[in-house]
Amino acid sequence: MRRRLLALASLTVVLVATGCSSGHSPSMLDGRAGEARRVAGVWWLMFAMATVVYVVVAAFIVIAVVRGRRAKRDDPLTGPKDDTFIWFGGIVAPVLILGVLAVVTVNTTQVLRKPQQGELRIQVVGKRWWWDIRYPTDRVTTSGEIHIPVGRPVDIELTSDNVIHSFWVPQLAGKVDTIPGQVNHLRLRANQAGVYRGACAEYCGIEHAHMSFIVIADQPVDFDRWITRRRGGAGVAPTSEEAAQGQLVFTREACAGCHTIKGTQATGTVGPDLSDFGSRRWIASLTVPNTSANLSRWIADPQAIKPGNLMPPTALSSADRDAIAAYLEGLK
Ligand code: CUA
Repeated sequence: MRRRLLALASLTVVLVATGCSSGHSPSMLDGRAGEARRVAGVWWLMFAMATVVYVVVAAFIVIAVVRGRRAKRDDPLTGPKDDTFIWFGGIVAPVLILGVLAVVTVNTTQVLRKPQQGELRIQVVGKRWWWDIRYPTDRVTTSGEIHIPVGRPVDIELTSDNVIHSFWVPQLAGKVDTIPGQVNHLRLRANQAGVYRGACAEYCGIEHAHMSFIVIADQPVDFDRWITRRRGGAGVAPTSEEAAQGQLVFTREACAGCHTIKGTQATGTVGPDLSDFGSRRWIASLTVPNTSANLSRWIADPQAIKPGNLMPPTALSSADRDAIAAYLEGLK
């Protein structure tokens, strides 16, 4: 018995330790924005209440076991007849606890939803299985990596054109579903610069696990530089002969039917907008790092990297693939 308990305890320790130390799973308790801290506050309140309830109930069980045995020894027919415990423990205490949690939760939700002055509007659409990101005021479109300025409130308008997804950046805010035909709002303000990992938090099909993204909180100057560079319709010109060849192949082949690249004839809207592809850190919603080698592999056989995604394999020569990779990596 003791050995089994020991095994169970060590398993728990291992699970907790690996869960907390994994770099891929940011903790919602490690808030870097007031919104996440508020959500964490509610969590801590629930945790504290649950702990108190657990300790009290466990204590009563121990007392009941001890007293029950004693009563049996003395006289099996007599025992406590007082039903105060039932009234208090069964009705008053639960109503109080749930009442407090209801008020705190509703209040927190209301505070988190309140529009702020000078908000930056960002539109995010949950796709299969990636995130389309637009800055409507600046007419900038990107994918999978959301830049926000530190200290400025952000209003993220969330929707989906397929199934329900859920947008969650644990260190910045609570999660909000993206629902087809409806726009939900997620408001947050990052307190410090950094890169925060986000994920889809609602099972949405075969590649749900590969529907991650990052939020990059830049200093306001850096953010302004980032968005200014992407504004306007000209786009980025190819930087080398190989890249120019890549642009030619890209717009000639099927690529242009699904992807948009600013300033070219590629205006497809099925796949992600690639206008700033070279500046992104990841390919395919954080599936592999953005390197020329990975990109070339991806173009050759996307299904080998992210099975089930909607990009078909391309029958291009390796020279054409490399040219496209050189072109896309130059789009910064
Ligand atoms: Cu999208 Cu899960």
